[in-house]
Amino acid sequence: MEPFVFMKLSYSSSRLATFLFSVVLIGVHSVARVTLPENVIVPAVIAFGDSIVDQGANNNLTTVVKANFSPYGKDFVAGKPTGRFSNNKTPADMIVEELGIKELLPAYLDPSLDEKELLTGVSFASGGSGYDPQTPKIVGVLSCSDQLRQFKEYIGKLKHIVGEKRTQSILANSLFLVVAGSDDLANTYFTIGIRKLQYDIPSYTNLMVSSASDFIKDIYQLGARRIGVFSAPPIGCLPSQRTLGGGGLRRCAEKYNNAASLYNKKLKQQLEYLNRTLAQSRIIYLDIYNPIVAIIENPIKYGLEVVDRGCCGTGNIEVSILCNHLLPTCPDDSKYFFWDSYHPTNKGYSILC
Ligand SMILES: *[C@@H]1O[C@H](CO)[C@@H](O)[C@H](O)[C@H]1NC(C)=O
Ligand SMILES: *[C@@H]1O[C@H](CO)[C@@H](O)[C@H](O)[C@H]1NC(C)=O
Repeated sequence: MEPFVFMKLSYSSSRLATFLFSVVLIGVHSVARVTLPENVIVPAVIAFGDSIVDQGANNNLTTVVKANFSPYGKDFVAGKPTGRFSNNKTPADMIVEELGIKELLPAYLDPSLDEKELLTGVSFASGGSGYDPQTPKIVGVLSCSDQLRQFKEYIGKLKHIVGEKRTQSILANSLFLVVAGSDDLANTYFTIGIRKLQYDIPSYTNLMVSSASDFIKDIYQLGARRIGVFSAPPIGCLPSQRTLGGGGLRRCAEKYNNAASLYNKKLKQQLEYLNRTLAQSRIIYLDIYNPIVAIIENPIKYGLEVVDRGCCGTGNIEVSILCNHLLPTCPDDSKYFFWDSYHPTNKGYSILC
């Protein structure tokens, strides 16, 4: 295996570079734009969570949460729908590319996955999943514990390929991405409402954070050290949530955003605690809430025109199977922040990254 040094980062000052810089440099207190030492090596990226980093895990599941048909993948290699919930690459792909590891992060469940790919990382994420065990259950997708089980199986395969010692070293140096929480709030809590009877927003966000924390401890126990955890986005501004909770004018649903902010505040505190208490861990809280709000409040500044609906169909509600080949798409998705009523376009992701 060639060591991968990410020289590219020395010239980059993007948010993604800043994030990668801080998550991989254990014990160095610095900011981006500083040239990375050449011995900083990230052998692999391993992703968990939901549709933001689902690379096709749901393709063979019996669920409505799928994206392996057009117009998904419209701008992907050969316009191929792969199960990624966007018109093109996901943030997980952008991150492996930025790190110089590979061009795309494959799904662990990709039937064409070859053994060598395991060494440079895979995604276990499953669209529609969440920290609340009810969230994946409602839509029949892979829960955090399913993803953890597959991760253990993956570690077994790594050991078989490169041995125990190399496996531990790969795990300790890899970048782990954990991206979940928006489906818990948007679907399970607000839209479907099954948790509203049992929990108010403060206690539901506690449940989410406690489950996120357990998950991070679990992957830490299995060898993960460099862990980037995404905040929740301003879920009230997702086009579908504007439609469902934003009134006749489809404003950002403030109550939903407040719940996301509360969750984020608690998550950040818990991550600070884990960062201090799990020896040798380097845990980073990645705020996507404030950057998305900034984009939505001032789209022109970012070269965008439409931020309140998706590019697929009317853009107000279509997502997954509701966003399909029967619908027209907008003429220029690079002017849209959202691809469907829930997920950013590739352009949107590249502004964030
Ligand atoms: C898809 O799932 C079925 C059962 O659910 C399984 O038998 C089959 O091997 C899977 N195919 C792939 C390509 O993973
Ligand atoms: C974890 O500690 C590092 C410094 O050692 C710091 O840069 C990082 O922001 C901390 N993460 C959190 C979530 O506080």
